[in-house]
Amino acid sequence: MTGLDVHQGSDDLTEALKVDVRSGLSAAQKWLPPKWFYDARGSRLFEDITALPEYYPTRAEREVLAREAGEIARVTGASTLVELGSGSSEKTRLLLDGLRAAGTLRAFVPLDVSESALSAAVTAIRADYPGLDVHGVVGDFTEHLGLLPGQPPRLVAFLGGTIGNLLPVERLKFLRSVRHVLAEGEWLLLGTDLVKDVATLVAAYDDAAGVTAEFNRNVLVVINERLGADFDPARFGHEAYWDAEHEWIEMRLRAREAMTVRIPGAGLAVSFAEGEHIRTEISAKFRQEGVAAELAECGFAVEHWWTDARQRFGVSLARTR
Ligand code: SAH
Ligand code: AVI
Repeated sequence: MTGLDVHQGSDDLTEALKVDVRSGLSAAQKWLPPKWFYDARGSRLFEDITALPEYYPTRAEREVLAREAGEIARVTGASTLVELGSGSSEKTRLLLDGLRAAGTLRAFVPLDVSESALSAAVTAIRADYPGLDVHGVVGDFTEHLGLLPGQPPRLVAFLGGTIGNLLPVERLKFLRSVRHVLAEGEWLLLGTDLVKDVATLVAAYDDAAGVTAEFNRNVLVVINERLGADFDPARFGHEAYWDAEHEWIEMRLRAREAMTVRIPGAGLAVSFAEGEHIRTEISAKFRQEGVAAELAECGFAVEHWWTDARQRFGVSLARTR
C-alpha cells in the first residue's frame, strides 16, 4: 500500500484528455500536450530513453547533481524536498543523500501525473530511506501546486529539462505559480537542457533503436485506450524537428496516408491529409542568460548555475525574493 494523495484520478484524467483532444485535434495545426505520453507504458519508455546512447540530458544532469548535491544541501538547508514531474526519482536520490548527510531532511514530496511511476518510486524510496516522510502526490504540476504539503525551508526540484516541455507562456505561468506557493527564502532547483549543435539535439530525439518513436506514438495508444479511438500508430511516422527560431525540438507524428480516425470518447472524427502532422511535444533548449532572466521575471534570484563538464545541461539553484 503506497498511500498516495490522488488529485487527478483516472476519471479526471479521462475528462482532461477529452478536453485536450477536442481542442488539439480540431486546431488547424494539430497538437497534443506531452503530459499524455505518460501512462505506465509511456513512463517505462521514458526510462528506456534515459539509458539510450543518444539521450545525453539524464547523464549530464546526473553528473551535475552528483558533484553539487552536498553544496545544494549546505546552501538550502532544506527540510522538505518537493519534486515536480518526479518520474522514477532516480537522480533525486543524490539530493536526498546530500540533504540527509547534512542532517536537515525530514520529508520528500514527489508529484507526478503518472501514478504507476510515482507509486514505484515511493515504494523504493521508502525502503531505502527509513525514517524519511515520503508523501507521493498524483497530480498535474500546472494545477496542483497549492496542495503540496511540507515544512519550510522547502526546496522544489524540477529536473530533467521538463520545463522545456512547456510553451514559453506556460513556462512563465508555471514559474510564477511555483513562486506563489513558496515563502521568501525558499528554493527552486531547475534543470534545463542547453542549446547545442543540431546533430546532437536531433539524435537525442530520434534514436537509432526507435525507442523515442515508440514513446511518441504512445500518445495515440493512450487516446485509443482512454477514449476508445481507432488510431493505428503504425500509420504515423516519428519526427524530431529542430526549430532554430524558437530553439526547441518539436516532436511530431506525421500521417503516412490520408485517413479519418474516430474518437468516440471525445465525440470526434478527425481527418488527416497525407503528410499532415500532429505536434506532440516541444522540448525547448536554453541559454544561461535566458534562464536567469525568466527566473528573475518570476520572482527568483539565481544563486548558483552549474553545468556538466561538456556544458550540455544547466542546473540553476534559485532563491525566492
Ligand atoms: N524528473 C524525471 C522524469 C522526467 S520525465 C527525470 O528527470 O528523469 C517527465 C515526468 O513528468 C514524467 O514522469 C511525467 O509523468 C511527468 N509529467 C509530465 N507532465 C506532467 C504534468 N503536467 N503534471 C505532472 N507530471 C507531469
Ligand atoms: C521529460 N522531458 C524533459 C523529455 C525531453 O527531453 O524533453 C521528454 C522526452 N521526449 C522525447 N525524449 C524525451
